[in-house]
Amino acid sequence: MKRALFLSLAVVMVLSLALAGCTQPAPPQAPTQVPAGPTEVPPLDISVVTDATWPPFEMVNETTKGLEGFDIDLMNAIAKEANLKINWVNIGWDALLAGMATGQYDASISVITITEDRKKDMLFSDPYYDAGQLIAVRIDNNDIKGPADLKGKVAGAQLDTTGDIEIGKIDGAKRKPYDDVGQAILDLINGQIDAVVADSPLIRGYVAKNASKIKSVGEPFTEEYYGIAVRKGGEAILARINAGLKAVKDQGLIEQLSDTWVKTAE
Ligand code: ARG
Repeated sequence: MKRALFLSLAVVMVLSLALAGCTQPAPPQAPTQVPAGPTEVPPLDISVVTDATWPPFEMVNETTKGLEGFDIDLMNAIAKEANLKINWVNIGWDALLAGMATGQYDASISVITITEDRKKDMLFSDPYYDAGQLIAVRIDNNDIKGPADLKGKVAGAQLDTTGDIEIGKIDGAKRKPYDDVGQAILDLINGQIDAVVADSPLIRGYVAKNASKIKSVGEPFTEEYYGIAVRKGGEAILARINAGLKAVKDQGLIEQLSDTWVKTAE
């Protein structure tokens, strides 16, 4: 009798346990880890415009005819981080500024100085590099020592760049705008103009290549920050670019690209 009761109790217990197993929710699973990085955001195609006439940041490789330079490497690295697929467009500086203002292109990397004026026409990423305007003169010129000495002199710059804008601010300086800054350097070497005003890394690169003909004078006289431009309304693209930029900055890419492109050119 005792034994029979025990057995039936045991059966009831086993049954109720089995039933409980059926109705009880499954134990919570460990959350599946979402991998960080490119797979977080869906891929996106964007057009990126540059004016590849500006060594060592954006140029056309003479042999491969492909784009190369600091900016090209930087933007490609950002794209990889942010899962962006770049459709590169190479156009002149003026068309670049106009195209960005009208939303013809999604973004632009072209050592664009972040200015209040340009912010009316386009969005800017966080800054990625700082430079300033520097003056180049012929090697035998000893009268031009700084911006004020450009009074009465012909100073060349790429049209509508910050160099060109700075020349316009110097009292009595004769502005000579060019579509291509390389042509301004040639004209300086050939004695057509007295000076060229442009971003310090570009000037230093040309001076290094033509050290017997031209020199830079003094130190950079402006403080400028380069940003990646994004068309107005492209806030989502801008957010991805900024996130990608932050990631590659954290990896030390800016220093690495400075070593590869800027230091070797100077
Ligand atoms: N930093 C200067 C500016 O924003 C020069 C830019 C010229 N860039 C170029 N790729 N041509 O005006």
